[in-house]
Amino acid sequence: MKILVTGGAGFIGSAVIRHLIADTDHAVVNVDKLTYAGNLASLGEAAQSDRYAFEQVDIGDADALRAVFDRHAPDAVMHLAAESHVDRSIHGPADFIQTNLVGTGVLLEVARSYCETLPAERRAAFRFHHVSTDEVYGDLEGPEGLFTEDTPYAPSSPYSASKAGSDHLVRAWHRTFGLPVLVTNCSNNYGPCHFPEKLIPLIILNARAGKPLPVYGDGSQVRDWLYVEDHARALVTVLESGTVGETYNIGGHNEHRNLEVVERICALLEELAPAHPDGVARYADLITYVKDRPGHDLRYAIDAGKIERELGWRPRETFESGLRKTVQWYLDNDAWVEGVTSGAYREWTSHHYGMD
Ligand code: NAD
Ligand code: DAU
Repeated sequence: MKILVTGGAGFIGSAVIRHLIADTDHAVVNVDKLTYAGNLASLGEAAQSDRYAFEQVDIGDADALRAVFDRHAPDAVMHLAAESHVDRSIHGPADFIQTNLVGTGVLLEVARSYCETLPAERRAAFRFHHVSTDEVYGDLEGPEGLFTEDTPYAPSSPYSASKAGSDHLVRAWHRTFGLPVLVTNCSNNYGPCHFPEKLIPLIILNARAGKPLPVYGDGSQVRDWLYVEDHARALVTVLESGTVGETYNIGGHNEHRNLEVVERICALLEELAPAHPDGVARYADLITYVKDRPGHDLRYAIDAGKIERELGWRPRETFESGLRKTVQWYLDNDAWVEGVTSGAYREWTSHHYGMD
């Protein structure tokens, strides 16, 4: 099958493409605008495959998208392109509304008209897989309870509201136009090639540089962490075997408080990078409590029972094994870090996190 992957130069999209090229026979067309978060270096060897093609296109550009569909004639779409950072959405929601909501609407229309031109057999087999987040459900109060596929939507941030809107558009295109869609909602990912504006890579890189480790509020918020390669396998499983029109929640059964995550990273660095930056006795001494995120969601936790029962997917990494791999990856990949820590990224982080 030829799969058009949007956002394939991003954190999760690049993991999906690396998995598709390394472990399956599928061909890939990577459609990515290359915003500050897109980095072709994250594709690694996959970009050399003759089953891989790249198109630098904004998903809000209908004409350019139509040309890509005509040129490559895909059998499926995996839609990951998005503005993905909650803090940025608070400081500037417009790009989130444009890409996540309007861009998804444009992509749906182009995919629908393309799908309608396909012969009956290919049309029946066509899939539009929309990759979304558990943040559409809002947050859970207290330590009990899990998000299921039936949890009502209650997004808190401009980011999660724009993703919730895009989920609704995708389901409407199924119900109204019969587009064969699949929707997945996943918890927090972590792993290689994660842009260092997000908690885990930011903490690793700041600690190595001897800079403050910013913990929002009191650090008691809980996230449910999933190793990105487990997510990539789950997404391909849903694309290949999921039931059209269904939603699948994806998560790793790894709930941890933010402060605990930061402390674990510090402990791993003590072991894996024992030479401290000048003037730092212990990495954990760099922990700094800062102003809380406005509207900060308290706790996310996913019930992944449906995808486990119906499609047989299970995460392979524990939080211990995945976090160790992740810290080691950042220690081993200075060139990748150097490549993304420039330009717009540097302006943002220096303003918001006091990084150079
Ligand atoms: P990311 O920010 O790392 O990557 C996003 C990619 O989309 C980048 O390559 C960027 O260049 C591209 N892009 C942005 N706007 C575009 C546009 N208008 N046209 C074409 N390309 C565009 O994001 P990520 O963390 O890899 O997330 C991927 C998807 O998964 C998103 O839809 C996100 O909502 C969802 N998701 C993320 C997580 C997580 O923990 N990171 C969890 C659940 C769901
Ligand atoms: O749940 C899925 C979502 O997870 C995805 O949809 C988003 O795209 C992804 O960015 C992520 O959102 P979060 O807001 O949970 O991720 P982030 O890494 O920004 O923050 C994780 C937690 O850590 C959150 O409670 C805020 C806190 N935090 C974050 C940063 C960047 C800090 O305490 N300090 C920080 O410097």
